[in-house]
Amino acid sequence: MFVLAIETSCDETSAAVLRTSDPGTRPSKLGTAQEGGTSGTCPPSLSEAPEVLSNIVLSQDEVHAPYGGVVPELASRQHIKSIAAIVGEALTRAGAGLGEIDLYAVTQGPGLIGSLLVGLSFAKGLAYYHKKPLVGVDHLEAHLEACFLENPAIAYPVLGLLVSGGHTALYRMAEPLSYELLGRTRDDAAGEALDKIAKFLGLGYPGGPVIEKLGKDGDPKAFPFAVPRTKDRSLDFSFSGLKTAALKIIRESGVTKDDPRLGDFLASFEEIVARTLVGQVRAAADRVQPRSLVLCGGVARNTRLRTRFQGFARDAGIDAYVPSPKLCTDNAAMVGAVALEMFARRPDRAPDLDLDAYPR
Ligand code: KG4
Ligand code: ZN
Repeated sequence: MFVLAIETSCDETSAAVLRTSDPGTRPSKLGTAQEGGTSGTCPPSLSEAPEVLSNIVLSQDEVHAPYGGVVPELASRQHIKSIAAIVGEALTRAGAGLGEIDLYAVTQGPGLIGSLLVGLSFAKGLAYYHKKPLVGVDHLEAHLEACFLENPAIAYPVLGLLVSGGHTALYRMAEPLSYELLGRTRDDAAGEALDKIAKFLGLGYPGGPVIEKLGKDGDPKAFPFAVPRTKDRSLDFSFSGLKTAALKIIRESGVTKDDPRLGDFLASFEEIVARTLVGQVRAAADRVQPRSLVLCGGVARNTRLRTRFQGFARDAGIDAYVPSPKLCTDNAAMVGAVALEMFARRPDRAPDLDLDAYPR
């Protein structure tokens, strides 16, 4: 069967076509109770990872760069302009026509409400006209599922770290499509902190990639940052203190965009963000004893974070998975992957034209 997935939650217009030959039952990879997992078999699920036939992503970075962040009204207008062409391109690259699509999938939330509505309305129109089921997908679940597209046999329970521009959170997944929130940021998301520091230094938007590029050869120990500690033993995150510390260092040391110390400063900031994230993964892993770790979301593209995350997993003896970079940032393939999982459980779905977008 073929699924056409659409993602327009923020500032990427994306469409993907996925194919699965057997929406049967994924062989259970759940641990036994003794191993720290839940015993029993998986509910109906995909037996193999779907094949991604196309995954077209049109970024709006150039539209928002002059403002140093996403302008919601510009984002939704840009989605309206691009969506038909992006869906058409996804079909062409996949060698499929709309007549062959068996299932439509779309991001329902969280995200920018105007942007979400563009994708949702477009998907509803297609599902209604072609009389096919439509599945609304949660954007955060989609990020977490991205890893399974490339590694369908990841063993449960899984500890997942989701780090994007809007979210930073830890989840325990006991089985496919089950997400227990263990901790989340109390203020800024990790990506947001990177974006804000880049904006303050006039480095452009999005901040993560530019900080990574300019800090690549910098000394990560050059500037003194301390890992933020929460007073309780919670698995929450907080990045606003780090952001304030970074702004203080910038002001006091006079680091600017053209300063020779810029690379050292950016490497130090990136390093502390990575260490803070991995520190909470370590605390969560101690608590929930996962069989696997996954890292996902736009910030998971970051080499320093990937390296620290994998280094921790190696030391702890836990299998770790990180999606390839294209599947970390917003894309429709991950949305299609969740929809296929949902459809495998409830193949009797009708086109749900009452689906509504949710911002949070
Ligand atoms: O998941 P995503 O595409 O969109 C949201 O759902 O937010 O993540 C976007 C975030 C931005 O904050 C961006 O700066 C960050 O991911 N990002 C990176 C890198 N590439 C994107 N952060 C660090 N290093 C990167 N290479
Ligand atoms: Zn995202």
